[in-house]
Order: sequence, then C-alpha cells, then structure tokens
Amino acid sequence: MIYAANFKTNHTRKSTAEYIASLSDKIATKNDEDKVYIFPPATALDSYVGDFTIGTQNAYPAQNGAFTGEIGLDQLEEFDIQTILIGHSERREHMAESQEKVAQKFAFFKEQNFEIIYCIGEPLHVREEGFDAVMDYLLAQFDGIDISYEKVIVAYEPIWAIGTGRSATVEEISSTHLALKKAINNKPLLYGGSAKPANIKEISAIDGVDGVLVGSASLDAESFSQMILS
Ligand code: PGA
Repeated sequence: MIYAANFKTNHTRKSTAEYIASLSDKIATKNDEDKVYIFPPATALDSYVGDFTIGTQNAYPAQNGAFTGEIGLDQLEEFDIQTILIGHSERREHMAESQEKVAQKFAFFKEQNFEIIYCIGEPLHVREEGFDAVMDYLLAQFDGIDISYEKVIVAYEPIWAIGTGRSATVEEISSTHLALKKAINNKPLLYGGSAKPANIKEISAIDGVDGVLVGSASLDAESFSQMILS
C-alpha cells in the first residue's frame, strides 16, 4: 500500500520537522513494501532523511524565471525533490488550473523524470447523475496526459468526499476503481477523500485500491501512523 500525506496549507517548517521525527519513530515497524509520501507546504521542503519520500504539492513548470509566487525546478533541486502532486481538485478549482494547464505541467515534470501523483475526481452533481456521467467526467481529466508514463500514480478523489468527513462508500470506490484501473492500464491507483484511521481497513481491502491520499487525517503524526500500521 501507498500512504500519501497531503498537508495542503497546514504545518510550518518547524512543525513539519517535528512531525517527520515523530512519524519516523512511530512507523519504524511498518511493512517494507508499504510506501509513505509526505507533501508539506513549499516553505517546509527540506532534505529530510527517513523511510519516506518528500514531494511538492505544486510547482511551476519552469527551471526558474519570472513567475511571482511560484517555485520551479531550482527550488526543488535544492532539496532533491523529485515527486509532485498534479491536478488536485483544489488547484483546479481555487487556482483555476484548466485541464490544458494541468496537462502542460504533467508533460514538463514527466520530461524531468519526476514521479507524478496525478489527481482526478468528480463533483457531487456529477456523481448524482450516475456512474456513466462519473466515468465520462473522470476520463476527460486524462486529456493531454500520457498515462503510459512509467512514474505516474493516479489518485481518485471524489470532490464531495474531500475534507467533508464523508468518504465514498465501498461500492462507489470499488466500481470506480475497477473501471479506472482498465483505463489507466493498471497503474497504481490511490483513493482520497476523508480516508482516516476509522475507515482505512475497509478502504485498503477494496480491489483496485493501491493506497490512499490523505489530507485531514494525515496532519497528526499519530493518526497517520495508525493508518500506515493498520
Ligand atoms: P481529506 O483530503 O483526506 O481531508 O479528505 C484528501 C485530499 O484532498 O487529498
């Protein structure tokens, strides 16, 4: 299983260092085949050492340059960061990242040989239209994306389940993952959306779930470690 922690706009440089020290202690006995990723905010990127991979929640597709407020490859290379989240629904919505922009970013970081966690997910009104509408919506989020790229992990995150405390049901995750797995040629596929210690066993037992992308429940090292050790 893959366990990825997305801190979003939470934690500082200081609290991230404390979190990583605490998490490392707690997960010292984790299964070797389980992989842990941590995506802290950009100000907390650093050269942390341990049994986990640090990734960036975002970056501008450029080595450096005049892109006020953004970070590029120079800033990632300083800490040897080679993993990035692309296409998260919060960036598509609040930062108005279009599919075209997302695809450009994907192509750039693929060219740089980054590991990419590529996020897709449908809003509630689409889920309410039924399964076919959900799949049409999700598949459109692969426009311009080279899914054959060997270092891609896909994260399916229904928007209505993100940060709401209400995860998708086992049946919803199961049917969606089954269909997605075919579309993405069996690439690793994570589920995200209110994954937490209370539901991790149920979610990780679903066929076609290779891991979880966790927001709220990852912010506390104790809670995230409980998920990893479950
Ligand atoms: P959540 O967020 O676990 O708080 O629902 C998941 C995500 O947005 O990656």
